[in-house]
Amino acid sequence: MYSAEKQNELYQLSKQLLAANNGLDLAAQVTALHEVISYHEWRYYVLNEPVLSDFEFDGLFSLLKRIERENPALLSPNSPTQRVSADLIENFNTVTHLSPMLSLENSYNSEDLREFDARVKKLLNLPAEQDLSYCVEPKFDGGTIVLYYENNLLQRAATRGDGAKGEEITPNAKAIKTLPLQANFTQHTLQKVELRGEVLMSKTEFERNNLQKQKTGEAVFANPRNAATGSIRMKDAKEVSRRNLDVFVYQIAYAEDENGVNDLARFGTHENSIQLLQNLGFKTPKLNTERKVCDNIQAVIDYCNHWEEIRDSYEYEIDGMVIKLNDIALQKRCGYTSHHPRWAAAYKFKPKQASTKLLNIEFQVGRLGAITPVAKLAPVELAGVVISSVSLHNEDLIKQKDIRIGDTVLVERAGDVIPQIVKPIADLRTGAEQILVFPTHCPACQSELERAEKEAVWRCTNTLACPAQQLGKFIHFASKDAMNIDGMGESICERFYKLGWLNSLTDVYKLDFSSMQKLEGFGKRSADKLKIAIENSKQNPAYRLLYSLGIRFVGRSVSKTLVAAVPKLQDLAKLSAADLMKLEDIGEKVSAQVVAAFANPELIALLDELEALGVNTSRLDSELPKVIAADSNLPFAGKTVLFTGTLSKMTRDEAKIFAEEAGAKIASSVSSKLSYLVVGEDAGSKLTKAQQLNIPILSETEFLALIGK
Ligand code: IVH
Repeated sequence: MYSAEKQNELYQLSKQLLAANNGLDLAAQVTALHEVISYHEWRYYVLNEPVLSDFEFDGLFSLLKRIERENPALLSPNSPTQRVSADLIENFNTVTHLSPMLSLENSYNSEDLREFDARVKKLLNLPAEQDLSYCVEPKFDGGTIVLYYENNLLQRAATRGDGAKGEEITPNAKAIKTLPLQANFTQHTLQKVELRGEVLMSKTEFERNNLQKQKTGEAVFANPRNAATGSIRMKDAKEVSRRNLDVFVYQIAYAEDENGVNDLARFGTHENSIQLLQNLGFKTPKLNTERKVCDNIQAVIDYCNHWEEIRDSYEYEIDGMVIKLNDIALQKRCGYTSHHPRWAAAYKFKPKQASTKLLNIEFQVGRLGAITPVAKLAPVELAGVVISSVSLHNEDLIKQKDIRIGDTVLVERAGDVIPQIVKPIADLRTGAEQILVFPTHCPACQSELERAEKEAVWRCTNTLACPAQQLGKFIHFASKDAMNIDGMGESICERFYKLGWLNSLTDVYKLDFSSMQKLEGFGKRSADKLKIAIENSKQNPAYRLLYSLGIRFVGRSVSKTLVAAVPKLQDLAKLSAADLMKLEDIGEKVSAQVVAAFANPELIALLDELEALGVNTSRLDSELPKVIAADSNLPFAGKTVLFTGTLSKMTRDEAKIFAEEAGAKIASSVSSKLSYLVVGEDAGSKLTKAQQLNIPILSETEFLALIGK
């Protein structure tokens, strides 16, 4: 439909339009916006593969709406703002919804939400200081489903389609186990009901399905949303059933009684209508954990912010929150525009995905010689942070994803996870992109690179003399997680290193502060501060020193375990590989590295010299493991516990704290050693595995009873 060249042109044009000052006159902007919006709608709805984030797409849409509002002469009937949206995919029967489904107006920050609240009050002729109640719930990121029940039976299910008409997917809907095929609506005098909801694949199911696909060599789903929207349109309902989809129902759109009257105000509030659905057996967002009635806009803002923080720990992908005026009679008075209800709004979270140009690939040399390719990107904002460079990890990954210099790439930053390139957008290639030629020599010292068998990384083996490796060791030594020397970050380390002040790690404790004061941009204050930070680091617990030595595979947690085993770091030299392997979580690989490192007399000499300089090498009392005897009085002493599913009586963090207070250790996965699996709602593969292994399963209530809460 669109050539690669054309797509590339439209993509660049979109980015230009989104820039603060795009240099186009109004009429040209409108023509361009019509074209790019249609293109992005096609990529989103038809291909299911957008190249812009929702945030960027909404930016284009809002820009067009604003120009049209301010310049009515530029509004034409074929503008994308004049239709609800979406092309229909062929092959399914088309059904007309009883009540057309519009979109939601987007808001991105607390100011937008306050403006929304002010607009609603104005529409209702209410004073600005009067508070309104809103129902707030997650904006599920899956596929919309419209359900029609008549005489208590699910008669028909359809996709949203263009809002007025959708595709009929009844057999697929019936294969979704969380969807009641029968519900006692007539008990509430309702004959014909149209509901709206979202089809979702939980994160656990997504992983399970992808694992299965990997095994059979099929292409994996890109994300749970694609998995859900793709599954619901399948021809084979049996396959839909195997995929364990879920449906959350979030709205009654039509409710006709015995007298043929459709009046939603009969429910009083949105909250009541959801409660009714919940009582009839539908899966709805749970009251107070997943949905909340907020008594004013500040409470709405707080709840949205809370969800933005916890979204990653939720079992389903959500891309924002939906805010609905709770009182249905008031909803009716607010009415609709051609695009959205005036009584509802979506609060969109900061986007986690965006596309940008990959400008170049550079190579970094790590402190252990690993060569890491790093993609330099045209700066792009992701979840509120500007990203201009991301690690590409290794050569194989670049080949696997077929990432080329000059590509437009999709970048993602999920939660606290470091940003990564999801994939190149091959459709936008012009032919000028270059396939990466991996270097054969170290970019810092020119020695030849080596790649060990079964390893993915290339390494510079010039361990002793490669300046990049040497510098990396100092940066690591001083870093926050290691010796935590505030004021000795990357650039300062590099400066001192280039001045020849840092050769051995002991040099950190021999720095000449009077010379330092004379450095440009340094001064007495920073030198004094650094002196204090270095001095303080001498009292660090021994595990920090061990970790800061940068021995391969010896991370913070292994360091803590090793330190707990000996009174002094130097004593580690006395332990054999067999001794080490008796320690928790220490295997063959780690013990071999530790034995080799401590067999080197230079390392012992280094530790002795550090000690002579006043650096602590002895285990502190606080570094001894806190032993809770298995026969202690605590109810979970000596037990391991794992939580799975959505907890309704407490948050995950609270649950973990309760368990730990009761003497338990929190496990990270299901194994035969696990004492209990505590399950919330919608538990997935962990529950299945625990059942297979005969692990005792506890409900939330049973867990709370056991710990006496
Ligand atoms: S209410 C008038 N509530 O967001 C529209 N929508 O355009 C009423 N969505 O694709 C929609 N979670 O499927 C509503 N809790 C929720 C929702 C939700 C997700 C989706 C919906 C549609 C889009 C809204």
